Amino acid sequence: MADFRKKREWELPASTATRESAYWGRRDFIKVAGLATIGVAGLAYSQLGATSTPMMEEIARLPKLDAPGNEKYRVHGDMTKESVAARYNNFYEFSRYKDDVWEHARDFQPYPWQLEVGGLVNRPRTYDVDELVRRMPLEERIYRFRCVEAWSMVVPWIGFPLSALLKEVEPTSQAKYVKFTTFFDPEVAPRQQEGNWYSSEPWPYTEGLTIAEAANELTMLSVGIYGHVLPKQHGAPIRLVVPWKYGFKNIKSIVKIELAAKRPETFWNTLAPNEYGFVSNVNPKVPHPRWSQANERVICTVQRQPTLLYNGYAAQVAHLYAKT
Ligand code: MTE
Repeated sequence: MADFRKKREWELPASTATRESAYWGRRDFIKVAGLATIGVAGLAYSQLGATSTPMMEEIARLPKLDAPGNEKYRVHGDMTKESVAARYNNFYEFSRYKDDVWEHARDFQPYPWQLEVGGLVNRPRTYDVDELVRRMPLEERIYRFRCVEAWSMVVPWIGFPLSALLKEVEPTSQAKYVKFTTFFDPEVAPRQQEGNWYSSEPWPYTEGLTIAEAANELTMLSVGIYGHVLPKQHGAPIRLVVPWKYGFKNIKSIVKIELAAKRPETFWNTLAPNEYGFVSNVNPKVPHPRWSQANERVICTVQRQPTLLYNGYAAQVAHLYAKT
């Protein structure tokens, strides 16, 4: 249980929830004023959206993934540019900032990769992710993505429904929850190193869903984005995508999936249970204790828009939460 008397390094300041709009407001000001010099923060953020950068050169070398688009899962409106989404990441194993995750993740080796699936199942199995990528019916789905920090984006994930994998391992009737665990490797993930983290940080990163949420049609295991395999900063080689929940539920670089009878403990919920609930469905009417969730900023723009209940996916998921 986190001690709230002391301010923690991981604690998101309320200002973070307004920070990005401030950056973009500032960029507009710089443009309008025609200033020739910009400050350090301005310089870093001017790289967001730039298409020819060392980061985009690295991304251009990633293997392509050919997956047909599933027309059922489309979003009206603009898709976020890859050069923006790939440089605005939360991956605390590597950095507590967003724009340098891609650089800090350089030594991380996500290929080859094994994914263990076990717990309350009849057929526990360890998968080679390469084999899954070759065998599973991959498709592209364009989903909205909403971070608990009140920013949003729209991205084209490539992957397959989690339900397809669960079917193979046959959960038993006692299985009520699904727990996901990220790798633990302090050699490549600096924030997992002893002395470099607060003893209250419960590494490795874990997340969980109810079995009904895991079986929902929207829930995906993603292995690619923007037509190629996942870059390291997006959680290569395999991550969870649950578009009606806040972004932190979308655990990256998964090594283990376990079916369980009891609700699993999860990273953010253990750190700050009053701020990051286990369920964490996107809901404009339930404010974060330190900021409103009624609106969101579209990343890399000054556009604000109303937050949608279940992030716009009520038709697919509202029945999961209907009171009987
Ligand atoms: N998974 C792991 N292992 N570690 C993390 O720090 N951050 C979460 C989630 N998954 C995180 C993680 C948070 S807070 C968000 S908003 C999303 O990943 C960000 O995903 P993206 O960087 O691909 O946009």
